[in-house]
Amino acid sequence: MSKFFALIPAAGSGARMGNELPKQYLSLNNRPMIYHAIYTLCQSQAIAGVFVVLAPSDNEWFKYDWSEFSEKLVMLSCGGLTRADSVLNGLTTAKQKDLVETDDWILVHDAARPCLTSIQLNKLINELATDDVGGLLAVPVADTLKRSNIDNRVTHTESRENLWQAQTPQMFRFDLLTQALRSATSINVTDDASAVEALGFQPKLVTGDAYNFKVTYPQDLALAELILQKRNNS
Ligand code: C5P
Repeated sequence: MSKFFALIPAAGSGARMGNELPKQYLSLNNRPMIYHAIYTLCQSQAIAGVFVVLAPSDNEWFKYDWSEFSEKLVMLSCGGLTRADSVLNGLTTAKQKDLVETDDWILVHDAARPCLTSIQLNKLINELATDDVGGLLAVPVADTLKRSNIDNRVTHTESRENLWQAQTPQMFRFDLLTQALRSATSINVTDDASAVEALGFQPKLVTGDAYNFKVTYPQDLALAELILQKRNNS
């Protein structure tokens, strides 16, 4: 039977946070940010293992104690120049080490989405486990969308009908995801689903929640901290 694995690409520098420390290590509730995603993924009964893909030059990882996750967590030092490269390198290395089979499911999750809940994770797995393609957590766009020119003047109001914000985890079978990312090297792929779409498939959108946002700018950290603190106290 196919198993479910999580893969966290964490080889980015997080330049938009304006911090020297890569953002996955910024402190969030007294833990490095990446801890929270690892915790939720390792807690899941459905997930057989969690691969974390780090930049080969990353020394920060070793400053923390990860032993509480030793049953499931595998660190792979094979990050690439782009997120897509890091995911593909992680998949290839996991296969070389005989840790995955080609028909296993891979749930790619951003280190910078620390507020993923077990409820959303289980919903994604349950809705897609028998799907032919796979898919992703996403939320329908709520705001009105404006297109601008270079002077930040509105040139057009976009229809938000049928528009979604893609989140992670994004869940595809190992062989499809590997094939998609290999073919995607020349196109601008900012998530795994777009690589799969480029092969002509239609990933399924599974409605998630806004709490699973990506920490991108400094002010996002405070919001993530509030959400996690509220959860811990309730
Ligand atoms: O920069 P962005 O927020 O889009 O990065 C999304 C995720 O991809 C982050 O977890 C980041 O560490 C990871 N990433 C990576 N390798 C890169 C660039 C980004 O693993 N070369």
